[in-house]
Order: sequence, then structure tokens, then C-alpha cells
Amino acid sequence: MVYSARFCRVKLPLWPLLAWLFEMLVCNYTLVRRASEFKGFFGVPVQSTIQFLRPAYSTAIGHKATAAKSRRQLPVRMHSLAALAALCSAVATALAPNGHRTPLPQPVEASAELGRRDLLLTLGAAGLLPLRAFAASPEGTVVPQAELFETAAKVAKRRIIVTGANSGVGLEGAKILAKAGHDVVCACRNQARADAAASTSGGTAAVCDLADLSSVRSFAKTVSNVDVLVLNAGLALNTKDKEPTRTKDGFELTIGTNHLGHFLLYNLLEDKLAKSNNARLVVTASPVHDPLSGGGKVGSTATLGDLKGLKSKDFDMVDGGPFDADKAYKDSKLCNILFTAEASRRLAKKNSKATAHAFSPGLIPSPDGFFRYQPKIFAKTFSAIATKAGVAETSEFGGACLSYVATAPLLDQSTNGWWDTDPPGKHQLLCHLPSAEARSIDEQKELWRLSSALVGLA
Ligand SMILES: NC(=O)c1ccc[n+]([C@@H]2O[C@H](COP(=O)([O-])OP(=O)(O)OC[C@H]3O[C@@H](n4cnc5c(N)ncnc54)[C@H](OP(=O)(O)O)[C@@H]3O)[C@@H](O)[C@H]2O)c1
Repeated sequence: MVYSARFCRVKLPLWPLLAWLFEMLVCNYTLVRRASEFKGFFGVPVQSTIQFLRPAYSTAIGHKATAAKSRRQLPVRMHSLAALAALCSAVATALAPNGHRTPLPQPVEASAELGRRDLLLTLGAAGLLPLRAFAASPEGTVVPQAELFETAAKVAKRRIIVTGANSGVGLEGAKILAKAGHDVVCACRNQARADAAASTSGGTAAVCDLADLSSVRSFAKTVSNVDVLVLNAGLALNTKDKEPTRTKDGFELTIGTNHLGHFLLYNLLEDKLAKSNNARLVVTASPVHDPLSGGGKVGSTATLGDLKGLKSKDFDMVDGGPFDADKAYKDSKLCNILFTAEASRRLAKKNSKATAHAFSPGLIPSPDGFFRYQPKIFAKTFSAIATKAGVAETSEFGGACLSYVATAPLLDQSTNGWWDTDPPGKHQLLCHLPSAEARSIDEQKELWRLSSALVGLA
């Protein structure tokens, strides 16, 4: 027996109607706000299901019912569809994390020193500065794909160093930049890879093995001038690894390469970079630094804790915990963002026009590139599913993002931006806030202090 209710003389089935009302009243606002921002891989099927079922259900309730007065009742299969739609909505709502485009105000650790932007905002709010200070904030800025590919060719030519330029995002970025007429230095781990990168991209070859601090020092000595320093190289080890692999200097390989090698390189080139009229630091990071992001909440989550691991050279993890390859990668990307923030302040002190920005090239699940250390079957299956689901980007797109963040005049107007490919698979860059931990000024400074000691700068 089907329970029904009379509405405008039309007899409607009661239980899906109640489910629909419940969904509209309780879930709708959260659903629309959250599900559209839900970047988790698991969320894709849920979100697609909702997108497919919602119109079908609305049609069923809103139009078909009134049009089908004579039938008085909806077909039974519509009842199942309706119930399923409400269920999917509820599941998505329960699973979805807080949105990132409208982040809730997060408490940032109190610090004795305010960042330049914080200071501007405070002075602006107090009426001591014109509101232009606010207009310069890039948060919410969306850059479409065409602009990402075209901008590098429209600006004055620069000398740009790209680490990890022999593969993936670095190689594609070097190609776009060199084709646009920039003087690109392909800094790669050995001569053969650097030569191959230079001949494929049109740049020049240089050796810089980030897992060997003596190689980083040798490379830095060869650099006479630089306008843009792109710290792009990075690796994610097999998440099944139980023991850490070590760099030449004894650091855990992921943090040693993705953070400490780049940290030393930046410090050695900081003065040369600050002398340029177009000085810019670019860091290839990832949304997985943020435990609230779709990728960041799958598996282990990033946090540096009190950084006690970094107090000794033979650390397994930054937070002093046992080795976890998945977390080590996410932590390294958190280090990248914390590092960018502190570097942006240091650079600004030396050159008020200099800027520093972090960006993500998006999910590029290349089994022979970034996923090369993962089991082949997993890498290939994941790549196929992510591509089919429409959440993947290509290395060419990632390279275009790199070339844009390295050269776009828009990024001269602010510093310490976090430019993410958001929503996933939509081929655009969006500037928004990084995670709450990434915004802790105390942590940015403490990471800098401990890293300086580890690489022998302190
Ligand atoms: N792919 C993604 O889904 C994704 C998403 C977000 C962020 N990212 C970030 O994007 C950046 C580029 O990744 P990708 O996708 O282009 O991956 P990729 O194709 O594997 O490229 C990584 C590059 O880093 C280089 N590299 C690794 N260890 C090095 C070392 N010790 N010294 C010098 N170079 C070293 C690699 O050189 P070798 O070939 O010699 O190893 C390679 O050129 C990374 O920082 C990554 O964290 C990637």
C-alpha cells in the first residue's frame, strides 16, 4: 500500500515527499555549499549520483506529478529514485568536509611579528590605509586555462630556474617558458637528465641533486643571476614503505628532497634573487598539505606537531613519530607552504617588489611520473579511474600553471598566495587560503630555524 497526500488536488506519494522535504530543509544548504567543494576521490561517485538524481527527482515531484493529475500517483520506480536521492544527499552531507572557498575563521597562533599582508589588513581596517589594500588580495581569484597557457609569452623575458625540469610539470613548464622566450635553467639531479631536459624544452642544463646538499651548494655557486626561482622537484615514496630511505646527508628522503634541499637552494640564492626587478619565488605544493582537503584527508593526514623530529639529523618524521611514507609526503607539502610564507617575508625585506607564491598543478596521476614509486597496478588503475572521473589534470596543464605562477603580472600585486587547481579537474587556478596549520606564523618561523640548523646555515 502506498501512503499518499493530497496537494492541489493531486495525490502524491507520502514517504518520498517527506524525504524530499527533509532533504530540502535540513541538507540542502549544506549540500550545495559542501558537495560542490568536496574534492575527495570517494566523493566523486556520490556527487555525480546526486547531480544525476536531483533533476530526475525534482522532475518527478515538481512537474510530472502536477502534469499527471489523471494518474494521481507517481510510478513506483520514482519512489525508489526519490528515496535514493535523499539518501545520497544525506550521505554526501555527512561525508563532505568544510568548504575551502569560504573557510571558517581559524585561530592562527599568536605571534609577536605580523606578516606584511596582516599588517596591511589591520591598518586598512583601522582606516589608516585606503581600501586598495583589500582590493590587492587575490583570494577568490580564478584563472582560466587559456590564461594559464598564454601569459608567459606576454611578459618581459626573465631568467628562470626550474628544479625537477626533466619530467612532468617541471618539463612541461620549462617547455612553455622557453618557447615564450624566457631563459630557462633546467636544474636536474644528474647531467644526463639535465641534458635531456634542456634539449627537449629549449632551456639550458644544470645539475642540482636535491638529495645531496653538496650538489645543491655546487649548483648555487654557478648561478650569477636569477629572476624567478621555481622549486618544483618532488617525490612521494611508496606508501607501503616501512623504513625511511635517506638522502646523502642522512635525512629522510621525502622531507630531505622536497623541503630541505629546496630550503638550502633558496637560502643560497636569496640575495641574487632579491636583486632582480622581477624577483619571484615559486613553490610547487599540493592541497594534500591540508587535512580538510579531499586528498589531504584520505590516509594519513599532514601535521608537523611540535617539529621535534627536526631537532636531530636522523629524524624519521618531522613530528618525531614513526615513519609513514604517505604522511611524510603530505608533511613535506605542508613544509613547502610554511616555507613560502616565511620566504615571502624575508624576500620583501630585501626587495619590496619581490613576491613568493605556492601553487598546485592538480592531480596528475601519471604512473611513470609522480606515481612511479607506487605499485604499478595501483598507479595504472588509479590513473584510469581519476581520468575517467574527470578529476585529473595533465602534465601540460600543470606546466601551464607553473609558467603562469612564474610570470603573471597579477601575482606582482600580492605575495604569499596559495594557488590551487580547484575544483579538481576543472582546468583553472583558484587563489584561496591554505590550511590553518600552514598559516601559523610561529610554525613558519620555527620550521625555518630548525631547517637552517639541519642544512648547516645556522
Ligand atoms: N602529480 C601530482 O598529482 C601532483 C599533485 C600536486 C603536487 N605535485 C607536485 O608537483 C611537483 C612535480 O611533480 P610531477 O607531477 O611533475 O612529478 P614527476 O614527473 O615525478 O617529476 C618530479 C621531478 O622531481 C625530480 N626530483 C625528484 N627527486 C629529485 C632530486 N633528488 N633532485 C633533483 N630532482 C629531483 C624528478 O627528477 P628524476 O626524474 O630524476 O627523479 C622529476 O624531475 C612535485 O613537487 C609534486 O609534489 C604533483
